[in-house]
Amino acid sequence: MKRILSGVQPSGRPHLGNYLGAMRQHIEMQKDYEAFLFIADLHALTTVKNAELMRSQTFDLAASYLALGLDPEKTVFFKQSAVAEHSELCWILDCMATMPFLERAHAWKDALNKGKKEISVGLFNYPILQAADILLYQPDLVPVGQDQKQHIEMTRDLAQSFNSTFGETFKIPEPFIKEDVAVVPGTDGQKMSKSYGNTIEIFADDNVLKKQVMGIVTDSTPVEDPKNPEKCNVAILYKLLATEEEYNDLAEKYKAGGFGYGDAKKELLGKIMAHFAEAREKYTELIKKPDFVWEILEDGNKRAKKVASQTLDEAKKKIGYK
Ligand code: TRP
Repeated sequence: MKRILSGVQPSGRPHLGNYLGAMRQHIEMQKDYEAFLFIADLHALTTVKNAELMRSQTFDLAASYLALGLDPEKTVFFKQSAVAEHSELCWILDCMATMPFLERAHAWKDALNKGKKEISVGLFNYPILQAADILLYQPDLVPVGQDQKQHIEMTRDLAQSFNSTFGETFKIPEPFIKEDVAVVPGTDGQKMSKSYGNTIEIFADDNVLKKQVMGIVTDSTPVEDPKNPEKCNVAILYKLLATEEEYNDLAEKYKAGGFGYGDAKKELLGKIMAHFAEAREKYTELIKKPDFVWEILEDGNKRAKKVASQTLDEAKKKIGYK
């Protein structure tokens, strides 16, 4: 069985964009791969500088994955900060990387272009920590979004550079990027993102969820007129959750006229509620048992540490630390 590994930053309760863009794939892959998945709370420290928020966002992400079907027996599900090997290998890889190598990273260049002057060393070093995350587990594949492609390339470069200096130690991982991952529109039509405040949250209370769906921006075509489903965010979101048949039914109603955007939103809300009914119920149960959720991570931390410490030991021997 091939091994996969991925990490997700804890950024609060997940929205449809998080789910359709990455979470769903992570959960599906546990069937066919030996999977490792971690909450990237070390990376999150580049932005989250509040203990309560760090804790609650980590917890929310863990409970969300479990509610959505992540099976902690199948997937080693853990917290990055609990496995000190990540930070330790990061230092070793730091010494394999040059400043110009890191200055080529998109995230760093974007921050510079936005005129940010006080960029933390942690943010600058973000790709090296990510390389350490990956190389410790010797995965075959790293499932990520298109935006992470460069980080995987940098990981490969660092692994090759270590291997050629000290001898074969790290497996060279391949990125696993699903090409057909849909761009999920937010309620205002821009890409769905917490930073735009246009999200539909999977685990929001019923009334909040309803408000978010009813607030989707549509054009002003009158109820009686035919409408184009391909140009409507309500229908686009519906399509992402529905079967082909269900979507075709909705599209027919759009084209026939006499079907308003309010009606379409009600159908979308119903679809979201039905699609996530089980997960929402499970989430409600899990947040009542925080110890249970933390214990699952504790167990994952131990299993992850076993693998990570073996790789780190190997690297240390090659360097001459052992
Ligand atoms: N940088 C990734 C993101 O923002 C998160 C991440 C951290 C990651 N370490 C990783 C993803 C290792 C894959 C493998 O999405």
